[in-house]
Amino acid sequence: MTFTSSTRYLYKKNKVQLNSKYFFAPINAGLADSKGNPTPELVSFHSKRSGRGIGVNYIGNVSITKDYVTNDTTLYVSEDMSGWKSMTAMIEEAGSLPGVQVACYKSKYTLIRKWKNKDDDQYIKFAIEETDALTLPQINTLINQFVDSSVALIKLGFKVIQIHAGHGYFLSTFTSALFNKRTDEYGKDRSLILKRIFEGIREKAGTDDYILDLRISFYERSLEENTDIKISLLDGLVKHGALDMISQTNGLYNLSKKLMYPHRTFGQGFMTPPILDLAAQYPSVLWNSCGNIWDIEEIEKNKLPDNLTFSIGRSLLADEDFVLKSITNQKDQIRRCTFCNKCHYYSMGLPHIACGVNENLF
Ligand SMILES: Cc1cc2nc3c(=O)[nH]c(=O)nc-3n(C[C@H](O)[C@H](O)[C@H](O)COP(=O)(O)O)c2cc1C
Ligand code: SF4
Repeated sequence: MTFTSSTRYLYKKNKVQLNSKYFFAPINAGLADSKGNPTPELVSFHSKRSGRGIGVNYIGNVSITKDYVTNDTTLYVSEDMSGWKSMTAMIEEAGSLPGVQVACYKSKYTLIRKWKNKDDDQYIKFAIEETDALTLPQINTLINQFVDSSVALIKLGFKVIQIHAGHGYFLSTFTSALFNKRTDEYGKDRSLILKRIFEGIREKAGTDDYILDLRISFYERSLEENTDIKISLLDGLVKHGALDMISQTNGLYNLSKKLMYPHRTFGQGFMTPPILDLAAQYPSVLWNSCGNIWDIEEIEKNKLPDNLTFSIGRSLLADEDFVLKSITNQKDQIRRCTFCNKCHYYSMGLPHIACGVNENLF
């Protein structure tokens, strides 16, 4: 595979070398077996999106325990993870870095299937009360589970550990000003839980052969909202010094999916300008921007800071060679995502991921 001169990229963070700034975004494909391990179909799904100009291939939504999965076909960390080593080895051999998203959905609120919640206020009230009710021992247990799961995944060969604090998952609501109204230390500093998780991973991993990444919903409810509070939380985390990378996403699953799976009308790479600014402002960490990337040539026209990377979801579902074709002047050969929404299998009542334009998705 040849990179054109404008897309050539080499970036080192800790002992980890990135060779492309374009990543396969975390995708919960619904292809785990009953023990939370990857099925051969999931390995194939990721094999098709490794190498091919892709810097990091993230395995999406791996729950810290069986108790906090989002559905029956979600991956989770367990005592027996023997099936995972072949996954990390395969991704690395193909030429990408194996990344993993460490997640936890600790809520009694059943994830909505519909595109939009009928009663936002009722959900917000429910999530505020759940966040408030957590005891300190429960919080400590969750911190330990995040740390131990992340360390287990580092030992399995994952090079990018992404802590999921987006989309209304546990760490998303717990660190959000919208939901966390606690008056204790975890309310006064809403990033404290993240700091404790990052510190714990750093202490226990015994290596710096990985990148510690945080995925966070930048805009939660609307692209018009004021992000000062969010930026000040991220500022505190960068200054704290334990994390290496901040990955932007948007939206809250239980309110509306429009920001999570951004509408076509938001436009190509609509999150690049704000994240580019943050990357320039905070050069000590890597930044990752995501949402509606369907024209890499357009992105490359900008002067990009070295620490800015991109995650791509649906364009790589529709065509696993989207990045490769983009960077080798075969843009006209790309099989395009039509925004048909078939991949949202949970909302569609399907057992696992599917794609309206790609019959050979995995
Ligand atoms: C089928 C599907 C499953 C997804 N699963 C996850 C997930 O497990 N974790 C996550 O953080 N984001 C998940 N996402 C969101 C993507 O990572 C990405 O943020 C989103 O699709 C926007 O990027 P795009 O416009 O390039 O598709 C999922 C998206 C799709 C389409
Ligand atoms: S299922 Fe539809 S929306 Fe999803 S990636 Fe495929 S074409 Fe795009």
